[in-house]
Amino acid sequence: MKITLEQAVELLLRGEVVAIPTETVYGLAAVYHDRAAVQKIYQLKNRPPKNPLIMHLASVQELSTFTSLDEELYAPLAKAFWPGPLTLVLPAITATIPEIVRASLPTQAFRIPSHPMTLKLLSKTGPLVAPSANLSGRPSSVSEKHVETDFGLDFPVFPGGQCKKGVESTILAFQNDRWVIGRLGAIPPSSFTPILGYEPTQEKAVICPGQLYRHYAPQCKLILTDNFSDATCIIGFSDRTYPKTAKHILWGSSNHSEEVLSNLYDTLRRLDHEGISQAHVDMRFPSTGLWQTLLERLQKAAQLV
Ligand code: TXA
Ligand code: MG
Repeated sequence: MKITLEQAVELLLRGEVVAIPTETVYGLAAVYHDRAAVQKIYQLKNRPPKNPLIMHLASVQELSTFTSLDEELYAPLAKAFWPGPLTLVLPAITATIPEIVRASLPTQAFRIPSHPMTLKLLSKTGPLVAPSANLSGRPSSVSEKHVETDFGLDFPVFPGGQCKKGVESTILAFQNDRWVIGRLGAIPPSSFTPILGYEPTQEKAVICPGQLYRHYAPQCKLILTDNFSDATCIIGFSDRTYPKTAKHILWGSSNHSEEVLSNLYDTLRRLDHEGISQAHVDMRFPSTGLWQTLLERLQKAAQLV
């Protein structure tokens, strides 16, 4: 059910959960200090309680209440990428953030989203915690329709159209005096080099608890391959032909990773919507830049990792 800005503010401030648009994916939002509302998020998503939530802010000034990290350490990243699809995991001032938000960790994830309507909402409600607006383990939502599919037609959605990026924020964590990648996302790791003087890498140890769980997976079995001989449905690129297979879903050009990522979750959801039980995914794409994000999401969606 679509709601107005005023209704969204009113519902959130009286302890309800509301779906909100961001430039990455839709989020399931609650006021950060309302423990009962935050608990509702976990219940609605069937989210494991050990998987903490990202706090969404309207401005970088709000951060100093919540983190003990020196501002000069995060300010260059904030200046370069916020508002935008970057999440920072910082040491938390634990007294200011309920345990349920952090899943009892001594750190907290933060981001300032760039969707103008959500920035307006945040300026009226204060910080909101929001995981992606999907049932735990399933593909994320990049449109109002996706949210309705998972949570029902009566669920309050503050509508913001189709999410531009269509894939989650990149997560950086500050560990041992360095920034490391916690989750690949809408910003490729190389984009941080001019700001940091080095390219942040992914550590062997899992930083984001969410990476430990099943994720992004449709019911449809995905076969990640470059061999389509026994394919009945192919997910492939618009600049290629797949003459031997009747059913194709083309998610964009093999030269345009942003385009493909923006269609990723809609495609995964479409497979289930159309009752397709098995699909071959064309894996002939580079292993650089945002293609790394696509690879990681597909491996999780196919339940290979
Ligand atoms: O683009 C996004 O980031 C979207 C939009 C709605 O902002 N949000 C999103 O939230 O993707 P979610 O909950 O689906 O994924 C958040 C990830 C999870 O893997 C979680 O484990 C990790 O962030 N995370 C949250 N707090 C953390 C913390 N304190 N330390 C490490 N990882 C954390
Ligand atoms: Mg998620």
